[in-house]
Amino acid sequence: MSAEKERSIKKMTLIAPSLLAANFARLAESIKEVEKAGADWLHIDVMDGHFVPNLTIGPPVVSNLRKETNLFFDVHLMIEKPDLLIPDFIKAGSDLITVHEEACPHLHRTIAMIKAANIKAGVALNPATPVNVLECIIEEIDLVLLMSVNPGFGGQSFIQGVIPKIVELKSMLGAKKSAALIQVDGGINPETGRKVVAAGCDVLVAGSFVFKANNPTHAVKQLKELF
Ligand code: DX5
Ligand code: ZN
Repeated sequence: MSAEKERSIKKMTLIAPSLLAANFARLAESIKEVEKAGADWLHIDVMDGHFVPNLTIGPPVVSNLRKETNLFFDVHLMIEKPDLLIPDFIKAGSDLITVHEEACPHLHRTIAMIKAANIKAGVALNPATPVNVLECIIEEIDLVLLMSVNPGFGGQSFIQGVIPKIVELKSMLGAKKSAALIQVDGGINPETGRKVVAAGCDVLVAGSFVFKANNPTHAVKQLKELF
């Protein structure tokens, strides 16, 4: 990993536009626009039609996008049996791979597989999954993604119940002396973004707010100016 990417994972309050809301016929252009606007990471939502009721993209698309940008690739796997595809997403150029706790019966093994490739590893929790399921894995991971909508679609309303989960997670990280980042994903705009950052979020994922905006450049700048 380059020194620049290593620095970017440590900087606080990062903005990660989610490609899910972009025009899939013009992905490279959309990425270049948010990169120029100052986005820190690119959030890439991978869906399999089983774990979530929607389908998106696979490793070949990620690998082609890798040639178009140097942005940090934050790959959010919303798929069953992620162990089968993690090697391909590593080869495709992911910098961080996040798997869902709900999809991983052998979570420790899955995280070890990601870390063995010398990239960052994250664990995502659905809105109904409590933070305490992370007790025995928190020291092994670089990021926790708290879903603030039920995964599967962009453009849904923010679920307020994520706020106490952020606070609880922050205190767990403190107790374990973990430097893992807290990422919040779903329904993020300047208003909800401010609330989650006040509660302890380090990385804001924003899909619709950025890519459905008339001016995505302005939307990224608006989020960056919040902090
Ligand atoms: C939902 C995805 C999100 C999605 C967020 O399953 O994980 O990353 O793109 O979209 P917005 O920001 O529109 O809620
Ligand atoms: Zn996501």
